Amino acid sequence: MRIFVTGGAGYIGSVMTDVLVDGGHEVTVFDNLSRGHRDAINPRATFVEGDLADTPRVFRTLKSNGIEAVIHMAGDALVAESMGNPARYYRNNLIAGVSLLEAMRDAGVSPIVFSSTCAVYGVPERTPLDERMPTRPINPYGESKLAFERALTCFQRAHSLKVVALRYFNAAGAGLRSGERHEPETHLIPIVLDAAAGESPTVTIFGDDYPTRDGTCVRDYIHVLDLADAHLLALDFLRSNDPRMEIYNLGCGGEGHTNREVVSCAEKVTGKPIAIVSGPRRPGDPPVLVASSDKARRELGWKPTRERLDVMIESAWKWRSTQ
Ligand SMILES: NC(=O)c1ccc[n+]([C@@H]2O[C@H](COP(=O)([O-])OP(=O)(O)OC[C@H]3O[C@@H](n4cnc5c(N)ncnc54)[C@H](O)[C@@H]3O)[C@@H](O)[C@H]2O)c1
Repeated sequence: MRIFVTGGAGYIGSVMTDVLVDGGHEVTVFDNLSRGHRDAINPRATFVEGDLADTPRVFRTLKSNGIEAVIHMAGDALVAESMGNPARYYRNNLIAGVSLLEAMRDAGVSPIVFSSTCAVYGVPERTPLDERMPTRPINPYGESKLAFERALTCFQRAHSLKVVALRYFNAAGAGLRSGERHEPETHLIPIVLDAAAGESPTVTIFGDDYPTRDGTCVRDYIHVLDLADAHLLALDFLRSNDPRMEIYNLGCGGEGHTNREVVSCAEKVTGKPIAIVSGPRRPGDPPVLVASSDKARRELGWKPTRERLDVMIESAWKWRSTQ
């Protein structure tokens, strides 16, 4: 297929592009490089440097490259930044997203698979979280992602789009040629690996008095290659079904991993000691966020094959050592 990957210079988008290119698809990466890296883009993909808010440019690119499907991964995803600058999040995650949908509508392009997030749930009443649980985001990042999901529902109905929104939990690990590189980095695994590599002296863990097995927050990690697999399955699913909008949670479920468990797993994988500093709780950090991905397993046939945390950390560590 000819696939348009927005955000294909970012962490997940660059891994997704590699998987698609290796699978024989023709990929057009559309990215404004606001957060991404030019050198992360697969050289066999066509790269268009542009902003999704530029509807005519997106339209022309969809038309001239004969695009048949969209994987929409571009966006801003820093919770703390969103608290201080909500306008950026509504502009980029909602308004630029709607610009993409208008261009798709005018170019007659469908389906779309959208990178949503567990942040749409806010603080859950119980875990594991399934898709029927209430969505009550507690920060502008989650709000803007949920608002775009709602826009997708409206466009789906009005224009018979085929839509899947995938609500990721915590992406981790690396692909074959690309890995996690955010600036600033707010994700635990790369921060922990920086400490293991001696690039930072300590890792701060925010809150050690939560009602969890060791007092630190529990999160659900999913290997970025398992995420990429879910997108391929979602595209197949949409191609063989009538226009619809479906939402799926993507995580590995189970017990999840506490922040301390992530650090000790990284110590084992890297063979390096990692010093922890206890910091205060951060407002709005739920104690436990673990997914139920039963719906994705049942309806898409998705089955993560890299569920072990050490496998994820090892792939991230290996990739890091090549940088
Ligand atoms: N990383 C995670 O654990 C995680 C978890 C849940 C959801 N998500 C979602 O997955 C997506 C990808 O996450 P990531 O970690 O790869 O992020 P990332 O910051 O590495 O990549 C995002 C990419 O989008 C590009 N971009 C941003 N705004 C753009 C615009 N207006 N026009 C064109 N390009 C634009 C950036 O330059 C960057 O290359 C995001 O939408 C994020 O909300 C990520």
